[in-house]
Amino acid sequence: MKRLLTTILVIGLFGAFTAPAMAAPEDELKKFRSYFEKRFPKTPFNDFINGVYSIDPASRAQWEEIEEFPPYELNLDKGKKLFNTPFANGKTYASCFENGGEGIANRYPFFDKDSGKVVTLEAAINTCRSANGEKPLKYKKGAMADISAYMHYTTRGKLTNVEVPNDPRAMAIYKEGKSQFYAKRGQMNMSCADCHVYNAGNKIRADLLSPALGHTTHFPVYRSKWGGMGTLHRRYGGCNKQVRAKPLKAQGPEYTALEYFHTYMSNGLEINGPGARK
Ligand code: HEC
Repeated sequence: MKRLLTTILVIGLFGAFTAPAMAAPEDELKKFRSYFEKRFPKTPFNDFINGVYSIDPASRAQWEEIEEFPPYELNLDKGKKLFNTPFANGKTYASCFENGGEGIANRYPFFDKDSGKVVTLEAAINTCRSANGEKPLKYKKGAMADISAYMHYTTRGKLTNVEVPNDPRAMAIYKEGKSQFYAKRGQMNMSCADCHVYNAGNKIRADLLSPALGHTTHFPVYRSKWGGMGTLHRRYGGCNKQVRAKPLKAQGPEYTALEYFHTYMSNGLEINGPGARK
């Protein structure tokens, strides 16, 4: 860990940028995008959906080979089966979602006017289960990750389209998500932005840091390190641990707000989940 800090201090990019005061989300989105476009002029906008492989030709070839026989194929099969298997009451997930749940993941998370809350796809899956008398699933892996993977798969090619309506409740959650993203945390006192904005493209130990732009398009992800699929909130927990911060609760208010901001920042980028990663 000490080595990691030194690397970063040597890189010396800290503090080069301060989070702007609250502006309209659309303005912030434009700035966020153009920061990465300037930083990685060789990466076409649509290619940011590929995480670190969008900026690293060396590891890209290897990854493309992996994607030819995707390690998540079995999970997709399981997810599809679960998605179509009737609950005890005879209904299926399709009854809970628009368009029978096909091709809709690009609009999540969304702000729900009735409840005043932001709804992630995984939360909606569990709400559907509860409404049909089934027990909720765990949020980080297993059946939940497989169902979410399948629902993202049917949405491949559609553009991320998260809305922050002009409603003070939605704005408050967006703002909370933004502060989660820029807040320093853990013993290493680092924010998401420290690694995935200011140091995107730099190395941390053996890893090249991916740009935050496009982060959300390929989740859930099959990681060899996990030996399976994991949801975005599982990854958030892992990144919190990297800086020796205690992971927060998957689908708790903080990560939900973070996902709202983080996904909004990838608006206009194609959904290509599930993905495969080291
Ligand atoms: C100490 C540096 C560090 C911090 C701080 C950090 N991460 Fe990461 N993160 C990594 C590394 C290393 C990886 C794996 C390589 C990569 O894809 O960037 C990673 C991967 C990810 C990925 C997966 C990218 C992909 O394409 O699969 C996401 C999403 C992510 N981080 C989000 C976050 C968020 C949100 C935060 C703040 C809560 C955060 N990270 C904080 C180092 C960090």
